[in-house]
Amino acid sequence: MNKKACAFYDERDCKQILLSAEEIDRITTRLARAIEETYKDSDRRLVMVVILKGSMPFAADLMKRLALPLELEFMKVSSYGAGTKTSGEIKISLDLKRDDLQDIDLLVVEDIVDSGRTLFRLTQLLKNRNAHSVRTCTLLDKPSRREVDFVPDFCGATIPDEFVIGYGLDYDEKYRNLPFVGVLKPEIYS
Ligand code: PRP
Repeated sequence: MNKKACAFYDERDCKQILLSAEEIDRITTRLARAIEETYKDSDRRLVMVVILKGSMPFAADLMKRLALPLELEFMKVSSYGAGTKTSGEIKISLDLKRDDLQDIDLLVVEDIVDSGRTLFRLTQLLKNRNAHSVRTCTLLDKPSRREVDFVPDFCGATIPDEFVIGYGLDYDEKYRNLPFVGVLKPEIYS
């Protein structure tokens, strides 16, 4: 199967396109302007922290639109679900390799906020490491799923409680390379 056929096959697994590539482009540009406005008068170093894996395409597009000096770091974190013994904690499998956070503005970039646990705990942790400021930017937000009190500083789009894939978001590690955000057909995962 060639590449084009693969992409077509993936698209057919969507029941609806939530954000087209053009809409994502407009959203990312709007977010970049808002972020520039926030940091334009800061004389501190701005570090974008990309949370792997899902936010990779969004962060790549966002950083190219930011007319600000910025540095790039990566983290990989996952939250333990509610109901487990360690509920409310996060597991860090890739951490920042720097301890100079006191003079730094951190901008944490995510693809989606769901229960809110990951960013709630991660922002607490980064503040405890004495970062000068910690803000968050997410492409997607599902406020109807929230389990903790968390509101992102920059949000691309609020979406309903659907199983979304594409533009970094996966089902069983697939579909991350779709150029749009779609709703997965229930028969694929049920
Ligand atoms: C997703 C997403 C956030 C988190 C949001 O990551 O990228 O990190 O879940 O969920 P929460 O608000 O309920 O904490 P995931 O664990 O699917 O990893 P991935 O990005 O590597 O796919």
